[in-house]
Amino acid sequence: MHCAPCWPTGCNCIYWKEVDVEGRVRIVMESALTARDRVGVQDFVLLEKYNSEAALIENLRRRFGENLIYTYIGSVLVSVNPYKELEMYSKQQMERYRGVSFYEISPHIYALSDNTYRAMRTERKDQCIMISGESGAGKTEASKKILLYYTVTCPINEHMATLGDRLLQSNPVLEAFGNAKTFRNDNSSRFGKYMDVQFDFRGAPVGGHILNYLLEKSRVVHQNHGERNFHIFYQLLDGGDDDLLTTLALERNPQSYNYLVKGNCPRLSSVSDKNNWKVVMKALSVIGFTEEEVQKLLDIIASVLHLGNTQFGEGEEGETYITTETQITHLAKLLGVDVSALRDALTHKKLTAKGEEMISPLNFEQAMSARDALAKAVYGRTFTWLVEKINQSLALKEIYHSGKGCTVIGLLDIYGFEVLQHNSFEQFCINYCNEKLQQLFIELTLRSEQEEYETEGIAWETVQYIDNKIICDLIEEKHKGIISILDEECLRPGETCDVSFLEKLEDTLGGHPHFVTHKLANGKTRRVMSREEFRLLHYAGEVNYNVNGFLDKNNDLLNRNLKEVRTMQMDEAATQFKNSLMKLMEILMSKEPSYVRCIKPNDAKQPGRFDEVLVRHQVKYLGLMENLRVRRAGFAYRRCFEAFLQRYKPLCPETWPNWHGRLADGVSTLVNHLGYKAEEYKLGRSKIFIRFPKTLFSTEDALQAKKPEIVITIQSAWRGMKARRRAKRRRQAAELIRKLIKGFIYRHEEYCPENEYFLDHVRCSFLKNLRKNLPKSVLDQNWPTPPPSLVETSDHLRRLHMRNMVMKYCRRVQPEWKKQMMQKVIASEIFKDQKDSYPQGVGRLFLDSRLEREQINLKVVQTLGNDKVQYGVSVVKYDRRGFKPRPRQLLLTNTFAVLVERTKIKQRVDYTALRGISVSSLSDGMFVLHMPNEDNKQKGDVVLHCDHVIELVTKLAMMAGKVNYVNVSPGSIRFVLARGKEGIIDFVRGSELKVAKGKRGHLLVVSLF
Ligand SMILES: Nc1ncnc2c1ncn2[C@@H]1O[C@H](COP(=O)(O)OP(=O)(O)OP(=O)(O)O)[C@@H](O)[C@H]1O
Ligand SMILES: [Mg+2]
Repeated sequence: MHCAPCWPTGCNCIYWKEVDVEGRVRIVMESALTARDRVGVQDFVLLEKYNSEAALIENLRRRFGENLIYTYIGSVLVSVNPYKELEMYSKQQMERYRGVSFYEISPHIYALSDNTYRAMRTERKDQCIMISGESGAGKTEASKKILLYYTVTCPINEHMATLGDRLLQSNPVLEAFGNAKTFRNDNSSRFGKYMDVQFDFRGAPVGGHILNYLLEKSRVVHQNHGERNFHIFYQLLDGGDDDLLTTLALERNPQSYNYLVKGNCPRLSSVSDKNNWKVVMKALSVIGFTEEEVQKLLDIIASVLHLGNTQFGEGEEGETYITTETQITHLAKLLGVDVSALRDALTHKKLTAKGEEMISPLNFEQAMSARDALAKAVYGRTFTWLVEKINQSLALKEIYHSGKGCTVIGLLDIYGFEVLQHNSFEQFCINYCNEKLQQLFIELTLRSEQEEYETEGIAWETVQYIDNKIICDLIEEKHKGIISILDEECLRPGETCDVSFLEKLEDTLGGHPHFVTHKLANGKTRRVMSREEFRLLHYAGEVNYNVNGFLDKNNDLLNRNLKEVRTMQMDEAATQFKNSLMKLMEILMSKEPSYVRCIKPNDAKQPGRFDEVLVRHQVKYLGLMENLRVRRAGFAYRRCFEAFLQRYKPLCPETWPNWHGRLADGVSTLVNHLGYKAEEYKLGRSKIFIRFPKTLFSTEDALQAKKPEIVITIQSAWRGMKARRRAKRRRQAAELIRKLIKGFIYRHEEYCPENEYFLDHVRCSFLKNLRKNLPKSVLDQNWPTPPPSLVETSDHLRRLHMRNMVMKYCRRVQPEWKKQMMQKVIASEIFKDQKDSYPQGVGRLFLDSRLEREQINLKVVQTLGNDKVQYGVSVVKYDRRGFKPRPRQLLLTNTFAVLVERTKIKQRVDYTALRGISVSSLSDGMFVLHMPNEDNKQKGDVVLHCDHVIELVTKLAMMAGKVNYVNVSPGSIRFVLARGKEGIIDFVRGSELKVAKGKRGHLLVVSLF
């Protein structure tokens, strides 16, 4: 078990206090040690016979039998392909492993993913997970599970919400174009892949980048029996709709294409090309390919098929010509090139000699290989383009400026050590890559071991291991290495061939301890080698490579032609690969590594079968025994003092139940008590190192034996504590009830010790209740009834609350509404409880004007000039004599009012001159404007009727500043006729509205009851 800060340097804590990503603190406990009793050991480090390969394989086999496909070697995860779906990759499982330590629950790819993620977050250091294993061992599946784990469990960055999808969707696309059915794996990755996932400071994935290595281009033109070309060809033919195939001039039957028939295996039983076609097309759009780009991509894929069907004939003079004209036409169209240029390019080559260009014809064989070279190159470049496009889609967006503050987890899914019946250039490159990765592994593992010993202050003991530098040098050294010799041979003028290359190797490398050929070998070896082979003694074992095709593959025919055209020096394939490997090593070196070693249990792709011979072979090639030996070279196990003490303290009376001194002293006391011998352990600065698993096991056994005793102690302490707690609570409850009863009896007394608890309780309840039930609006009259002691407080609170609500209400009032309210307030001052029509009138909205602008004659407006009309309304004016009704408009300006008869201003009433306004107390609309009567020239008071009398009189009174001059008369209104004479209006209630001349020359106004 590793505590987060020590991982992956290898602290094996059993217990520790951990703060996870969400800040939850928890104590976790290891179950690993007890699990060894169930099925084998879940960490090979715990194998007593760690030097025995058989013990390691037996442990793998036992666990595999129980579907326990994962086992650790320290921080390395060994995974055996189950060849069946196991129910261990669900979201719930992810949750189980989230934030949980490595050894806490059974080994899992999620545990490794999570530990790597947490190490990246806590240490802010880049990480990488290297996945290796032979073809079909489950590398790609493992890398997909890791990626899925991150996209599901990590937080999401809102700017990059779709990144997770794009990361996941890059897989089906790369697999369609870069994977194929091989003899060993129906979905074999035919390229190496290194993928970076970038995380922001919060741990959310924000970007990704993919590097691809050595695509197996030869598969485009040739497949072994039972194998297929890259999936995409079959997917296109099976899944593409009729229109698409017509546009690409393709037929649905794969058997029609030379490049698809070589392996004689057009269909896969395990997957549907048609379904995968849909998946790939969807993935392309998620990643952000436009329709046009997809079309171009498919044009190229189709063009490769057409190239394969392009045939040549031989003329009488040995010249080569193309016999399949239709193919060439389709090809030219799909590739967007000129037909005749294409035809020439396939049948001729261009040479530059002494600065002059020469075109020379190709013979039949040359034309065929030029065609194949073109197909391979076109496909290879398309693949590179595809990776670039995916990278653009995954690229860190600008907000993160060059990724500052970002940390990275790299995933390396690269071909494992490969030994076939016939090994060629490809196997050479692959095995060289593995040789480099092994070198890196040893360097990094030893480095981290050494660093830990140093920080812990423990003397370093040299570890014996196979250093494979000598083999790496043999391959890659400048001038003397195999790659250099191969390049030289490719560039050498004159006749060169694979055999001359082999001879050159023998000349230069003869005598090297890791290099043998048929000629150099002794009799026994010679018998198992052909004359065209050389043998390398890799760290993982011997491999014979057949040199046939080495030169061509290294030289890439197209490259050579290009080189002839250009003056620029281009690297050969092996050198390019070497350089890209160097870069990869640099990338990996700069990161904290974790390892997944994948093993394939049988060749038949069957579940439940464990082929020991096959597994032994892989255990050897993966260097698992080496891994184990390095891990076990010093100490088998290490634990933080705190964790060790916490787990084993019951075994020593001085440390049980608690140790209060220094942790190191506690551990020392404990191990002395347990009788550890000096050579069995060492104490570092913060950890105890235990040399042999058996020491730890016997301690663990002692703990198991002690457990019943500890359980009894803990149980009795716990039960006692629970009983005491219960008794205490019961006592407190009785006390409380007593107080409440007494308080109730004394509740009407003054505040005294007998009732204080009760009264406080009542008050408190009232206030709490009040808080929940405060009135929500000014009109809500409800208020809880207070207890007697809180009546005054309650009143205060009620007032305060009301004031508060009013204040809030006022703050919310809009200016328009405020104006309305002010007018209503004035209206209420004048009319409330005085006039019958008030409640009705005040309830309506007071309008800014009752006349539209166009209803007022323009001439009138002009006459008024600067005195703008503020309010206008239709009224009826009654003649002073005879009370004849006449329709008029009453217009109010800021300083006067006018009565208008259509275009004419009939009368002007200055507000300063207005003596008063009278209305009746009934519901009629009559009102009288009292004019000054000293002046005999005046015509007398004005008798008017308006349907909106409440609104009009309020506005007039406000504008004229005569609110106090409004007189509401019950019964009758007296008014002045001209020259001092008086008129009277009588108001009565009746069953019919009426304005008519009444008795004695009065005006009679009848309002409804
Ligand atoms: N954990 C797993 N659970 C279920 N099946 C698995 C698992 N791992 C691998 N497999 C099965 O094994 C097959 C081969 O696995 P995968 O493609 O990952 O191998 P590989 O190591 O990447 O091989 P290659 O080097 O050829 O690419 C998968 O298609 C799948 O059927
Ligand atoms: Mg793979």
